[in-house]
Amino acid sequence: MNRKYRKTIIAGNWKMNKTPSETKEFMTAFKGMMPKGRWCDVALCVPAVCIPAAVRAMRETRVGIGAENCNANASGAYTGEIATNMLVDAGCKYVIIGHSERRAMGETDADVNAKVLAALEAGLIPIMCCGETLEQRESGITSEWIAMQIKAGLQGVSEDKIRKVVIAYEPIWAIGTGKTATPDQAEEVCEHIRTVVRKLYSSKNARAISILYGGSMNEKNAFELLAQPDIDGGLIGGASLVPEKFLQIINAANQPTA
Ligand code: 13P
Repeated sequence: MNRKYRKTIIAGNWKMNKTPSETKEFMTAFKGMMPKGRWCDVALCVPAVCIPAAVRAMRETRVGIGAENCNANASGAYTGEIATNMLVDAGCKYVIIGHSERRAMGETDADVNAKVLAALEAGLIPIMCCGETLEQRESGITSEWIAMQIKAGLQGVSEDKIRKVVIAYEPIWAIGTGKTATPDQAEEVCEHIRTVVRKLYSSKNARAISILYGGSMNEKNAFELLAQPDIDGGLIGGASLVPEKFLQIINAANQPTA
């Protein structure tokens, strides 16, 4: 983290978990635990049907609610899809884009790019995900792969909008597996992502954007991961479903930094 230059963000990704009723229960419990002092930014990205319950519960708090996907089109004949202006109207602040689980369902870099542009246009903060498979890591192409995903995802994002984008590095081999990247491994890629952004934009912009790590981050390993200079927060799956665990990760993000 580097709080002088950029925001620290702890974001939960609930994936396909919790009903609206369970969302209400979580929020009630979580609200009761929230410390009064200064906080890092906190986001909870929840299933679309849970957004109203989450927004209602968190209205008077500093927790921003997000969606887990969006459609890049403004409106029209896209059965089952949700447009960015609908998310804004529902009270969302964030939207996760290009999660590897969605890429595995066929989402391409071009789709990711179109969604990032649509999210920015609507005033949402896109949390754009990237990450390599174990096979790619073992064959030594992680840096090239990540650079390619970042460049493709950010195409057409202007100088004045880049600082609104949050990038999440999620090595696919670490998601839901209990195999966390070591702080060094995660830092190496997050630093690389910042270098890619620096080359595409400028030093100032690269220094200002928040880069999150995701993949089996939990209350035990969060402190060490977040102590890395280029890891500005976390995108948390499993551990964000339990209020106590999620809170402990937030507390780890409030650690003193150099
Ligand atoms: P886990 O924290 O469950 O490994 O999930 C990470 C993730 O995919 C967050 O988007």
